[in-house]
Amino acid sequence: MSVEPAEGRRRFVLSLPLLAVLPWSLCGIAATLPTPGQMLGPFYPLQPDPAAGNDLATVDGRVRALGAPLTIVGRVRDTTGRARAGVLVEIWQTNAHGRYHHPHDDSPLPLDPDFRGYGRAATGSEGDYRFRTVMPVAYPGRTPHVHFRLSRGARELLVTQMYLPGEAGRQNQRDGLFMSVDAAERARLVGVAQAGEPGTLRFDIVIDGGR
Ligand SMILES: [Fe+2]
Repeated sequence: MSVEPAEGRRRFVLSLPLLAVLPWSLCGIAATLPTPGQMLGPFYPLQPDPAAGNDLATVDGRVRALGAPLTIVGRVRDTTGRARAGVLVEIWQTNAHGRYHHPHDDSPLPLDPDFRGYGRAATGSEGDYRFRTVMPVAYPGRTPHVHFRLSRGARELLVTQMYLPGEAGRQNQRDGLFMSVDAAERARLVGVAQAGEPGTLRFDIVIDGGR
């Protein structure tokens, strides 16, 4: 049965709003806002160890590093929502005393020989990554945070920092770097505690789609 011209026009007009959202709905994804960048800071390793793994706290099969155990999990996606596999994720942070394992950190606080301070992992097929570490602590001028650097080959994709939800409304609000971005961006820099998984924070990362 043929469609009358008037009915055909009505169908066309009705479909216009659908066409406007088609690029997103086709993939079943929504536009995603990028994770804000944050400064690299002075304590990125002078010579990042290519053999470092995703476990900063375990020695000889046991978690020996001082401090509260922390697992960080997350997914790396781009701004279209597409998972990004094969991205190198590097993290570095203070030990449980508030000191970096870095020659330029001249803090009198002690080192922890059982804590590596730096780790790396490549994202899996779903953009997923995981680290085992300990809770970072505050040091003068800074609220607790974990540094992140994402790259693919020689191409740097993002440098940022993850903050702790337990410090929301407390030390985070006195941290100049954290407060240098607006409230909506700050919300995307805070790890999310995982229900039923004590000591685990989720930090999903969104990189610019064109990168
Ligand atoms: Fe830092």
